[in-house]
Amino acid sequence: MIRRSRTDRTPRVRPRTVLLTLAAGVALIAPTALVAPAANAAATTLGAAAAQSGRYFGAATSSFMFSNTQHTTILNREFNSIVAENEMKWDATEPQQNVFNFTGSDRLVAHARANGMSVRGHALVWHAQQPGWAQNLSGTALRNAMINHINRVAGHFRGQIHSWDVVNEAFADGGGGGRRDSNLQRTGNDWIEVAFRTARTADPNAKLCYNDYNTDGINAKSTGIYNMVRDFKSRGVPIDCVGFQSHLGTGLASDYQANLQRFADLGVDVQITELDVAQGSNQASIYERVTRACLAVARCNGITVWGVRDNDSWRRGENPLLFDANGNKKPAYNSVLNALNSVTPNPTNPPPTTTPPPPGNAACTASVSLNTWNGGFVATIRVTAGNAAIRGWTVRVTLPGGTAVTGTWNAQASGSTGTVNFSNVSYNGQLGAGGSTEFGFQGTGTAPSTTPTCTAT
Ligand code: XIL
Repeated sequence: MIRRSRTDRTPRVRPRTVLLTLAAGVALIAPTALVAPAANAAATTLGAAAAQSGRYFGAATSSFMFSNTQHTTILNREFNSIVAENEMKWDATEPQQNVFNFTGSDRLVAHARANGMSVRGHALVWHAQQPGWAQNLSGTALRNAMINHINRVAGHFRGQIHSWDVVNEAFADGGGGGRRDSNLQRTGNDWIEVAFRTARTADPNAKLCYNDYNTDGINAKSTGIYNMVRDFKSRGVPIDCVGFQSHLGTGLASDYQANLQRFADLGVDVQITELDVAQGSNQASIYERVTRACLAVARCNGITVWGVRDNDSWRRGENPLLFDANGNKKPAYNSVLNALNSVTPNPTNPPPTTTPPPPGNAACTASVSLNTWNGGFVATIRVTAGNAAIRGWTVRVTLPGGTAVTGTWNAQASGSTGTVNFSNVSYNGQLGAGGSTEFGFQGTGTAPSTTPTCTAT
């Protein structure tokens, strides 16, 4: 049975809330922390409180939750960063090979932009939540599919993500400190560095993170990751940050902060990326210790909790979040807010910038020239950017019945009959304002007679 603190039942009247919050926090919080909020005119939301030290405070969410008023009211009020709980994963973004779906993830990024939040990207490559087609690939085919996936997804969101989880959960649990077996690992031990190098090219301004769980102290698994990061730094593999998921139970390793610090000392940032803590008598104090650990490590950029309300959580039965199922602030919320407010505000150190719009008013047109003969044709298509630079393009061509594409150059085709989407390849997606490029395809049957449509990204 969980004892509910008085703050749970407190009406939302600011001055009283603060007093009760402080009273409830007496046992947990050092005296200086009790004084600090009053002295600093304490921030009243997690995002604003974290911003005082240049950090973000984020939450995982999903675009389909935006219609839930209670969830979205809390999300918009409290958090200044969001991450897609599922909608940027491989199975969501590339359900069929080279057919990309950004419906949910674009909505999420637009929501962030409209509400002044920044966006974490999660996750480009992972052994879990792969689409079925990728699960069935191996070797060079899988390696190439991974590279294409990173190029297209990180390229799609280029300039709009402050930190990407490039690789998620690649290390094994247990004592060995080695890599986890997976189809990706079996493509060769260099798959992680290839992923990072690819992501750097696709989005040069995002921080590139390695992200994992059961790394909540100095242990064999975190040491395996530590050794990889040290190796990457020494060889110039582009890695900027390490994410500590921090899915926690009812205890916390005493060296949680020391572990963050040893990574920071390698020259990477650290982030708490998926924090949730099993409900128990010490839930609030564990949340507080994690928050204080991040605040104590200069290179800890911010904290993301893995959901908003307990009933939104993937660990729903454990009530692991900061808001209860009625949207009320839990004692853990108050302990986090007070800890964030205990720092001396530093206005010269802003948190990650909010999500900028995609570069330019991306638009393009396509024109076709045909070379036909009896039973076949070659189509050459010129793609021209509008009055702003574009990052990528897709040209949609409707083929007559009985016509099939037999070969494509300088583009990737989504299929061979019916309506076919031709998308840029890595070297011809970026066009300056008014710039153009050509691709082509050969077909059997009758040449298309309709004008193709062009969509820019
Ligand atoms: C979880 C989501 O919360 C669930 O909705 C989904 O069914 C499975 O994945 N580590 C991660 C996250 O990196 O992506 C996982 O998210 C939780 C564990």
